[in-house]
Amino acid sequence: MESTRDRLINLLAENGDNFISGQVLSESLNISRNAVWKHMKELEKDGFQMEAKPRMGYRIKTFPEKLSSNTIKWGLDSNWIANKVIHMQTVESTQTIAHQAAQENASHGTIVVADEQTIGRGRMDRSWHSSKDKGIWLSIILRPEMPPNHASQLTLLTATVLADVLNEFEILKPLIKWPNDLLLNKKKTAGILTEMQAEQDRIQYILIGIGLNVNHSINDLNEDIRSKATSLRIESDMEWSIRDLIQKLLIAFETAYDTYMEHGFAPIKEKWESYGFKIGEDIAIQTFNDNWKGKFLGISEEGALLTESKEGKPVKLYSAEIDWFSEPL
Ligand code: BTN
Repeated sequence: MESTRDRLINLLAENGDNFISGQVLSESLNISRNAVWKHMKELEKDGFQMEAKPRMGYRIKTFPEKLSSNTIKWGLDSNWIANKVIHMQTVESTQTIAHQAAQENASHGTIVVADEQTIGRGRMDRSWHSSKDKGIWLSIILRPEMPPNHASQLTLLTATVLADVLNEFEILKPLIKWPNDLLLNKKKTAGILTEMQAEQDRIQYILIGIGLNVNHSINDLNEDIRSKATSLRIESDMEWSIRDLIQKLLIAFETAYDTYMEHGFAPIKEKWESYGFKIGEDIAIQTFNDNWKGKFLGISEEGALLTESKEGKPVKLYSAEIDWFSEPL
């Protein structure tokens, strides 16, 4: 259920530059005018600047860039995503917090966001550098009713959501490297880590962890990844609003997820392939016990990697890494 604070934020956001009287607020929220005033003071602690005029009421003069549950919800027109926002300044990993929240029954669409992660996790047991206020470090808790073996489709879906959001900005030309790395100028700017708790045929919950490098300068990137990683700022020469990007991402995710639940994977496959890096070209393919070079044919109807076998025949791979950094690609 929406809290009083959330409803207050929505009312103020909907009214934009117009004043809204304490009386109207207290009636709409069913709380005393004194309680309205107390909520306003709490919002000020988050950096919202209020203007209060006698006989006219309240309006927000400026809202802060800094992340908080309140600022993320401010003006966010979503149906189910981020109805609950858990924001923390420093965490080991938002995935860890999200696992705990999910095990304590956090609802579908709950998000966990941090300003900084000290032990950010990547795929294949890699670490993920997540420096303070430089990027989006976010986990989404989902409780989809679908077979556990479809979970990887949600990862591919998330990659298309990220690509769509970045693609809205003309200066960025995102591509997706199989299965879900977001590239700008052939360098990685975002990654997705999907984790799942499931029984044999039932998903308890899925966590979609998204890491997006936003305002890093070259020097903010760890030396060991500098040659293959980038950020929006490096690619565009400008500072980005992390709050705005989070909101865009959440809305795009909600829309894509609802479409997927209604129409299945086909539209996602098409979109993924429109952003797919190296489709139609030779790639290095690595499975757990083999590696070879073959043509990248695209993704299958269920989201598997479609490549050529060593013998040049089409083959579906459900778990593989591809590469192009190594010569001669
Ligand atoms: C990868 O490309 O290897 C996936 C990186 C995923 C990083 C994100 S940041 C938010 C969430 N919390 C984590 O510890 N990891 C994911």
